[in-house]
Amino acid sequence: MKKYCIILLIILTLNGCQTNNINKSTSDVINQKVDSLLNIMTLDEKIGQMNQYNGFWDVTGPSPKNGDAKYKYENLKKGLVGSMLNMRGVRDITAVQKIAVEETRLGIPLIIGNDVIHGYKTLSPIPLAEAASWDIDEIENSARIAALEASAAGTNWTFAPMIDISRDARWGRVMEGAGEDPYLGSLIAAARVRGFQGDDLSKHYTIAATAKHFAAYGFSESGRDYNTVDISRNTLYNVVFPPFISALDAGARTFMNSFNELDGIPATANSFLQRDILKEEWNFDGFVVSDWGSISEMIAHGYVKNGVDATELAVEAGSDMDMESHLYIKNLKGLVESKKVDIKLIDDAVSRILRVKFELGLFDDPYRYLDADREKEVMHHPNNHKAVLEMAKKSIVLLKNENQLLPLKKENQTIALIGALANDDNSPLGNWRTNSDNNTAITVLEGMKAYPKNKLIYRKGADVNLNDGGVVKFHEKVKINENDKSGFNSAKNVARNADIVVMVLGEDGFQSGEGRSRTKIDLPGVQQELLEEVYKVNKNIVLVLMNGRPLNINWADKNIPSIVEAWQLGTQTGNAIAQVLYGDYNPSGKLPMTFPRSVGQIPIYYNYKNTGRPGPKNEVFWTHYNDEVNTPLYPFGYGLSYTTFEYSNIAIDNKILKKNNSINVSVELKNTGKFKGKEVVQLYIKDRYASITRPVRELKGFEMIELNPGESKTVSFEISESLLRFYSANEVWESEPGIFDIFIGTDSNASLQENFKLIRKF
Ligand code: NOJ
Repeated sequence: MKKYCIILLIILTLNGCQTNNINKSTSDVINQKVDSLLNIMTLDEKIGQMNQYNGFWDVTGPSPKNGDAKYKYENLKKGLVGSMLNMRGVRDITAVQKIAVEETRLGIPLIIGNDVIHGYKTLSPIPLAEAASWDIDEIENSARIAALEASAAGTNWTFAPMIDISRDARWGRVMEGAGEDPYLGSLIAAARVRGFQGDDLSKHYTIAATAKHFAAYGFSESGRDYNTVDISRNTLYNVVFPPFISALDAGARTFMNSFNELDGIPATANSFLQRDILKEEWNFDGFVVSDWGSISEMIAHGYVKNGVDATELAVEAGSDMDMESHLYIKNLKGLVESKKVDIKLIDDAVSRILRVKFELGLFDDPYRYLDADREKEVMHHPNNHKAVLEMAKKSIVLLKNENQLLPLKKENQTIALIGALANDDNSPLGNWRTNSDNNTAITVLEGMKAYPKNKLIYRKGADVNLNDGGVVKFHEKVKINENDKSGFNSAKNVARNADIVVMVLGEDGFQSGEGRSRTKIDLPGVQQELLEEVYKVNKNIVLVLMNGRPLNINWADKNIPSIVEAWQLGTQTGNAIAQVLYGDYNPSGKLPMTFPRSVGQIPIYYNYKNTGRPGPKNEVFWTHYNDEVNTPLYPFGYGLSYTTFEYSNIAIDNKILKKNNSINVSVELKNTGKFKGKEVVQLYIKDRYASITRPVRELKGFEMIELNPGESKTVSFEISESLLRFYSANEVWESEPGIFDIFIGTDSNASLQENFKLIRKF
């Protein structure tokens, strides 16, 4: 029997090393085990559990390339490391786990964290794209597939889902979230947590999730990553918090704090966020990991003058694990010994970390995620590819389809395929492909070759990036091609003689993501010019966009007959796009983020406030721009289909809603087009007057309905009082009596309208 189990048997005298589903009694057992273990830990060992290092293992040992590897390795052997991140693969992780389990005094296993953001080896679409599917079950499944592969490669904890609401397309990390809406974002947050964690965390194919970044990171000023956040309490509670509450309700076992400050206090040292809200009010009993180096970054923030103070304030505020600041391991012992930090805080943090390790079953078998045969079997399994292909097709949003250029005819057509991204097997993988392999996406060119009865001619037209071999490294800037138009003529020649031109344009995979903010969000480099030049010779253009954020595409919207938003769809990109272009999948996606007409409109979002001057009272003095309309190019919730839908007959079964009752609102949906298709029927509600001003409307429900041509269906939504709650002027979550307007339709401009009254007395 292994050393770790012997120790636990001695100290626990409970049910051996067995953990099961986390029901009440299991959780009591785990708590007792945690307490027993804590009792025999030295202060050093406790602090060690709070210490997380970036991976340093290189095949046979600490990597000589990494300067501090030796020191990390020594600490690992002394039991001074609780977790490692960015280690990949059964072989290397087994090596470090072995040291933790078999060479340290207590043999406490490591928890292995990784950014499994949208897949591990087999990549699904970037999270923003997945959100565009509005398909909650498919999103859950996508996270489940990611967990399957990650767990088979030794990871048992993902730093996902990222559930930061953002209204700023300049911010590179919008690609990693679910967009701008707290309702949709909450459903997706819970789905991703369920997908990663399953219903039994101790299974070898489930992994712990992280709700991140707590909190308000998506509101960094001017969309510049890591920038200051200045946010109202109203927005914090009613917009930023809901997905976190939802992730917590779904059982998220860890939270990550954020790089930004809140009310002048960095999130890492923010007791209000981590202790008062998360651990007290919301009763979270998992642990909080800092973001990378966020404890030491408090010095640069100007919040503390040295690492010792940073350590003290971070631990006091409830940051339980130090990701790569190396400050806890350096300073915490001294702080406890000098009584500056209460040992109770350490015990609390360590208990939380150990609890999650027990729940993962790591004490039953620390090698449960380390089966080399399973690793081989699971990675890139055909079922995983099938699942990410489904997810990818559902993530595509049809933005425009004039003259029914789409779907493409399957034979006797000459199709010119233009744009470097059409033959790019790397960009579609997005920014967070660190666990996967570069250049492994199926390209659009490859995908379209599966329809051989057309003549397909590809021309690059122009490069998007000029980086070495076209591949941008994780830490490298994208060198955008601003001048080279040498391929234009050849592209135009091919386009001139084609029946249809498919142009795949957009961002390099590394133009969005962490540290990848932009001030211009149009087509990068010479691509806009390429589009306009090709248009001069053939107007039958289908523009396929690949991008990690909403883009400015005003010219295209005015001139190009068909536009398809294809984001970055991961490994199966080319197949998904081809199947949609050819109509083998009828697009059903809806935008999870508003597309502005101009960067100057940002932040732009559908659930804005009316203001005191909403409408044109005269020429000048109302809330508007002098040089642009207020409305977006494409609103939140927008997306077309190859078929058409008609909404009619909105009806409400009761105009009065009493507190413990619910009412029903329904609408008739008819497929008036020629194709079978899916429509996301959306319900928005406006609270007319309240103790604080409320948004002009808020998404409160949606249903995905599939109809055959000519078919209709009545779609109904139940509205109960709890749906109307918000964080009010009384500083509580409550609904307030009064009149509410209901809007149902195809996007956030939905115009079929009803209303009802919520009454308190009944
Ligand atoms: C910094 C990012 O903000 C965070 O989301 C990520 O999980 C960590 N780095 C670890 O890679």
